[in-house]
Amino acid sequence: MSAPPFVELRGLRKTFGSKRVLDGVDLRVETGSVFTILGGSGSGKSVTLKHIIGLLRPDAGEVWIEGTNATDFSESQWVEIRRRFGYVFQGAALFDSLSVYENVAYPLREHLEWPEAQIAERVAESLAAVGLPGVERMLPAELSGGMRKRVGVARAVALHPKAILYDEPTTGLDPANSRRIGQLILRLKRSLDVTSVVVTHDLELCFAISDRIALLQDGRMIVEGTPDVLRASTHPAVHEFMHGGTEAEPVEEEAAHGS
Ligand SMILES: Nc1ncnc2c1ncn2[C@@H]1O[C@H](COP(=O)(O)OP(=O)(O)O)[C@@H](O)[C@H]1O
Ligand SMILES: [Mg+2]
Repeated sequence: MSAPPFVELRGLRKTFGSKRVLDGVDLRVETGSVFTILGGSGSGKSVTLKHIIGLLRPDAGEVWIEGTNATDFSESQWVEIRRRFGYVFQGAALFDSLSVYENVAYPLREHLEWPEAQIAERVAESLAAVGLPGVERMLPAELSGGMRKRVGVARAVALHPKAILYDEPTTGLDPANSRRIGQLILRLKRSLDVTSVVVTHDLELCFAISDRIALLQDGRMIVEGTPDVLRASTHPAVHEFMHGGTEAEPVEEEAAHGS
């Protein structure tokens, strides 16, 4: 028997007030693969990611994780599920008042009762993995936008998760830093068999890293397939998304806003 997908969403529906955001989302992310969700601003990409780790609960439909139906899990059961995931939040979202060290140590302190020396070792390893060795004592405000994003990835990998969710990991980054993030996602896949779900507007990133791609529009994954399938698609929405008409993402400010 083949392994179940790492993540499977079946007929997911979610409405906020009178606004229907997800209207039957189906998704299968195979273990060890990179799956990218494309879609315009406000199409429900972040909402979809939050359902995968139980931060939002669906109105209807099912969330399956590694072959288990987690839809009706209690909060404490979701805590155990979340331990398998790293999450790179939109905008990196570091704690501005905490050092880089404390930011990366955060999930370790939350989930494990490790002695400080072991935490320090894992923080150093995680920062080295994103190409930022030795920045532990710096504050987020002292880092460039690209470095902050990479610290966000270091925090997500610190627990050695089986899967990582990336919400717009390259937004606001220059092309060199964007490529570095893409290389990192691929390195984690190849060396550690990490499963990745990536939400992005960045087509270059998408086609460089993805095993499969889906386009979210009007609450559904209207097209899903390999990069070649997406490139060759004649679906008007795909054409529109790939050849203009999508709104530009605001470029993130380089200076950190104090908190
Ligand atoms: N917690 C929430 N409460 C109410 N509305 C929300 C909530 N989260 C998201 N939304 C709405 O759902 C829609 C999709 O949001 P989101 O998934 O963040 O879009 P994006 O595709 O840009 O990530 C937006 O209209 C947003 O305002
Ligand atoms: Mg979003």
